[in-house]
Amino acid sequence: MKATILVTGGLGYIGSHTVTALYEAGFEAVIVDDLSNSTEAVLDGIARITGVRPEFYKEDLRDPSAVNRIFAENSRLEGIIHFAASKYVGESIEKPLLYYENNLCSLIHLTKEALAHGVRHFIFSSSCTVYGEPEEVPVTEESPVLPAVSPYGNTKQIGEEILQDVAQAEDLNVILLRYFNPVGAHPTAEIGELPRGVPQNLVPFITQTAAGVREELKIFGNDYSTPDGTAVRDYIHVMDLAEAHVVALKRLLAGENKQKVEVFNVGTGRGNSVLEVVKTFEEVTGKSLPYSFAPRRAGDISAVWADTTKAERELGWKASKTLADALADAWRWEKKVRKIK
Ligand code: NAD
Ligand code: WQD
Repeated sequence: MKATILVTGGLGYIGSHTVTALYEAGFEAVIVDDLSNSTEAVLDGIARITGVRPEFYKEDLRDPSAVNRIFAENSRLEGIIHFAASKYVGESIEKPLLYYENNLCSLIHLTKEALAHGVRHFIFSSSCTVYGEPEEVPVTEESPVLPAVSPYGNTKQIGEEILQDVAQAEDLNVILLRYFNPVGAHPTAEIGELPRGVPQNLVPFITQTAAGVREELKIFGNDYSTPDGTAVRDYIHVMDLAEAHVVALKRLLAGENKQKVEVFNVGTGRGNSVLEVVKTFEEVTGKSLPYSFAPRRAGDISAVWADTTKAERELGWKASKTLADALADAWRWEKKVRKIK
């Protein structure tokens, strides 16, 4: 019998790609999403890729009775992958209560019902944002967690702490995955990233500029102490990231975790500058991208990338796709969304 996994935020960017990876690996998914940052059409894309239309609940995890009902109606759940959250750093500074309420109340209700219904395996979407501006790169899982600079970042730190405390007190096994910068789309272009309004993130801004939706890319800062002066990040293909969830889940289900709470960096182990991303995009698409330099963006750090030794050793997982693969897939997806040949 296939193991069934509750995927919250499963119609969002990372969640939807992970659902396809779960089916590929022989799991079944039950999705809950309130569509606050996604659309039901994503289910069609998932169905075209996997051949299965997963069971879907359009519910808000802030509603405890809805969360209770989902567990009550799905007695065979073996694990939870919790993606659902609000994720915009800038918005979180303007609407802190929305972020604390959504990201923390949802987590609390979900964890409570998981315990009440005997679901013992939990994967949480954390972020490299917990490392702040690190003194040394690459960052390992032992690198210090620095005070958060945004309410969003704080919800990830508090979320990690809540799960640490609950796992110590209760029968719950948790893997915290700290994602670096997820980019790209499913290679079929059936699903991809669908940012609301003007994209905050680099890659959707680049693809929308290449598609003619935006006039030019503004590169925020060319005076960082990095090789070309632009900021450096670890861009990981969303399908590699999806696969990391599958291996983490298998580890929990097989009881191979060494502690009740384990934490893993999920990045490529490589850092690329903004200018390198632009150049790679131009190379893989043959399009020239209009850009200019602008002042640094408030809250941005100079450089961060992952030390992935622990994930390789413990999970046997390593990113296999390149930045060029990710940008080619992101562009294929953008062209499909914009109906460009
Ligand atoms: P996303 O916004 O595309 O997906 C999140 C999904 O959760 C959306 O479909 C949204 O509708 C849903 N959702 C939000 N609040 C909900 C609620 N109360 N009830 C039910 N559904 C709800 O975001 P994503 O990029 O796929 O990110 C997934 C997770 O990974 C988030 O927790 C995010 O903080 C984390 N993360 C993302 C990145 C990134 O750069 N994309 C980096 C690190 C961590
Ligand atoms: C990447 C680089 C920008 C847009 C964010 C969150 C982080 C995590 C991942 C959730 C930076 C530059 C961007 C543009 C630019 N999310 N840039 N022009 O800021 O590294 O991380 O997403 O947990 O918490 O902060 O990602 O894609 O916004 O930026 O020059 O129009 O591209 O300054 O150097 P970031 P990003």
